[in-house]
Amino acid sequence: MRLLVTGGCGFIGSHYVRYALDAGHNVVNLDALTYSGNPANLADVQNHPGYRFVHGDVCTAAIVEPLVHEANAVVHIAAESHVDRSIDDAASFVRTNVLGTQVLLDALRRDPAGRDKPCVAVSTDEVFGDLPFDRPDQKFNEHSPYAPSSPYAASKAAADHLALAYHRTFGLDVRITHGTNTLGPNQHPEKLVPRFVINLLRGEKVPLYGDGQNVRDWVHVADHCAGIHAVLTRGRPGERYGIGAENERSNLELTRALLELLDLDDAMIQRVPDRPGHDRRYAMNAQKSREQLGWQPAHSAWPGALAETVEWYRRNETWWRQSVVR
Ligand SMILES: NC(=O)c1ccc[n+]([C@@H]2O[C@H](COP(=O)([O-])OP(=O)(O)OC[C@H]3O[C@@H](n4cnc5c(N)ncnc54)[C@H](O)[C@@H]3O)[C@@H](O)[C@H]2O)c1
Repeated sequence: MRLLVTGGCGFIGSHYVRYALDAGHNVVNLDALTYSGNPANLADVQNHPGYRFVHGDVCTAAIVEPLVHEANAVVHIAAESHVDRSIDDAASFVRTNVLGTQVLLDALRRDPAGRDKPCVAVSTDEVFGDLPFDRPDQKFNEHSPYAPSSPYAASKAAADHLALAYHRTFGLDVRITHGTNTLGPNQHPEKLVPRFVINLLRGEKVPLYGDGQNVRDWVHVADHCAGIHAVLTRGRPGERYGIGAENERSNLELTRALLELLDLDDAMIQRVPDRPGHDRRYAMNAQKSREQLGWQPAHSAWPGALAETVEWYRRNETWWRQSVVR
């Protein structure tokens, strides 16, 4: 395939670009290089014959249209992705996540062959809001009602609705993924796992929101990318797919696992006031992806995935020092 990948210099995007190249596809990576886009994430493939980087904004139709025209499939990963930033200022979230998705969908709509070009819109389980603590039997699935809590999640929900509307109204071959919280190498240092690991490596305390009881469902970035690719190659138009690895951990459990891996203790935890609107619990049922796509998480086993991630940040201090400064 000739793939157009948006947001390929970010965390998930850079792993996905490498995954697609390894699978033998050609990749054009459109990325605006915002604070979280880091070309160093793809330094090892920049001279790959199947790879081309385009520095540009997914909201600019004049850039997006020719790239969509020359591709025969699209993986839309570019986004503003940090919940806390969306609480401080939602404008860039609405712009990139909603307007950017609309520009991309319109480019597909205008392309004469656009309806035959599968487009995976990478979304999140956060569009469903949260689950109660006392109902471990309940999980999100592809039929869960949309109930986003944060401006970030609301902007991703709007993007999903646009994608599904373009499928219904214009017959575009759009597929959506609902991935859970993702961990692994190359994640921007302001996100929870790298931030905590980097703080601890520097001998600084970790800022834990509230009572730390909020539960997240963790998947390794390699499994998330394999899931995105499975949806692209084996999914169906207009369908949505959960990607999760049944790794529910409270933020306190996650923090204690990190402390244990680094031979530290609770003295390194600093409690900070809770995030406004903080979702209690996420958990994604990925049965549909497992059964219909044959997708299986292979890298997310706990605590191995976390230990491997810690080890990567320990060995790649130059990478995170540059990213912290950016
Ligand atoms: N990280 C997670 O835990 C997680 C979980 C589920 C879903 N997701 C989704 O996966 C996607 C990627 O998340 P991430 O954590 O890799 O994000 P990230 O912030 O690390 O990367 C985002 C990338 O998009 C680029 N970008 C931002 N605005 C752009 C624009 N206007 N035009 C072109 N490029 C632009 C950035 O430069 C960056 O390279 C997002 O859509 C997010 O909603 C993330």
